Formats: sequence, C-alpha cells, structure tokens
Amino acid sequence: MFGEPIGSELPILGDHVVTLEPFSRRDIPAMMAWDADAEAQRWFDWPTELPDPAAHEAHCIDVIAGWRTDSTAGRRAPFAIRRSARGETVGSVELRFDDDMWYISYLTHPDWRGRGFATRAVRLVCEWAFTVLDIDGIGLVVAEDNGASRAVARHVGFVETGRRTTSPPVDNYQPDVGSTRTMVEYVLGRSGQHGSRVSRAGR
Ligand SMILES: CC(C)(COP(=O)(O)OP(=O)(O)OC[C@H]1O[C@@H](n2cnc3c(N)ncnc32)[C@H](O)[C@@H]1OP(=O)(O)O)[C@@H](O)C(=O)NCCC(=O)NCCS
Repeated sequence: MFGEPIGSELPILGDHVVTLEPFSRRDIPAMMAWDADAEAQRWFDWPTELPDPAAHEAHCIDVIAGWRTDSTAGRRAPFAIRRSARGETVGSVELRFDDDMWYISYLTHPDWRGRGFATRAVRLVCEWAFTVLDIDGIGLVVAEDNGASRAVARHVGFVETGRRTTSPPVDNYQPDVGSTRTMVEYVLGRSGQHGSRVSRAGR
C-alpha cells in the first residue's frame, strides 16, 4: 500500500532538530513513560492503571511487533521521534490507514513538550506521505478541547473540514468517564490543498 519506492521498509526522516525512525527496543523506556502520562491517557483514552514493569515492557515489545506487521502490510507507518542532536526518544508520530483515509496522530513525552518537536515531526511525515507515498490527503481527528494538538494541526497547515463528530464514551480518564467528546475533523492536502476525503493508499 505504501507503493514501490519504499516497499515495506519505513525510511528515516529528519531535519536538524528531529529524526524519525522506525520503533525498536531502545524506545521501550520512552513508551513506558508516555503510557503513564496523564495527558496521553486523557486524549487517547488509555488505561490509567499500568501493569507491573515487566508486564508493561512485554506489552511494549508486542506493540512494536504489531506495528511492524501493520507497517509491512502497508496500513500503518509509526515513527519514533528522536532528537537529532543526542538521539533521545521524545515522542511518536504515525500514519494509519482507516476507513479509506490516511490519518495522523502524534504525541510527545511531557518533558519535551512546547519545543516544536510535534510540529516538526508531523510536517516531515506529511511531506513524505505526499511526495513518496503519493497520498492526496491526510485526516486528523482531535478533541475540541485539546488545545495543544489543535495548535500543532494549525502550525502544519491542517484545515478544519467543518465536520464535528462525537467520540464513543470515554472509558479510562476518570473525570470524563462515561461522557462523550466533541471531535474536530481536519484535513491536509498535498500542496496545502484540501485533501480529497477518500485518498489513495499508494500506487
Ligand atoms: C499535542 C502534543 C503532541 C504537542 O506536542 P509538542 O511537542 O508540545 O508540540 P509543539 O511544541 O510542536 O507545539 C505545541 C503548541 O501547542 C501550544 N499549546 C500547548 N498547550 C496548549 C493549550 N492547552 N492550548 C492551546 N495551545 C497549547 C503550544 O504553545 C505550542 O504552540 P506555539 O508553538 O505556537 O507556542 C503533546 O501535547 C501531547 O503529546 N499531548 C498528549 C497526546 C495528544 O493529545 N496527542 C494528539 C492527539 S492526535
């Protein structure tokens, strides 16, 4: 699905600030840390109770293996965001093919927020998707009150489609439990155009 130029291999993308690479075992401590982050738990509706460290590590290994399978099948492109200067893992950005459309999602470790890392990473992945994968448009669905994520979307040039949806009832984030959220839909098209809602998955 990603097309001939890359086959099943994800490339390394980057600029002088961030480097995006496929996940590997070296990312597990960072993954475990952001699994415990209240913001990530809140916006991704992740569990607030974590397994013991050994089980958590084993879970992360399984997650990476699952991503590799999805990546080889051409339906997901998950990248670790690393600082170019020193190589620390600072976050995650991924493209995922879902319901005939490519969607992007992202997070950064709380210690590294507010430095432009998510904006750079999202921009790099979108440029790669448009130029190498031949994707016409990338969607993004964000909770209306997720100010930081919406700021990243605006910085990169995503445009609101005007469509609002509601999320399924929130399971894990205690203050919101059982409630629904209003979700805002964005799209970014190649060359800043509005992407077509149904985008091609590759050649
Ligand atoms: C959203 C997230 C990835 C942003 O990461 P980041 O590395 O801090 O992003 P950047 O530094 O590139 O940009 C963040 C922008 O949000 C702004 N911001 C931060 N908190 C904000 C808030 N509560 N309301 C409005 N804007 C906010 C920052 O000021 C910055 O904008 P600026 O550059 O104009 O000052 C990070 O907060 C995160 O991981 N959140 C939890 C997971 C999540 O919500 N992911 C998105 C779901 S798709």
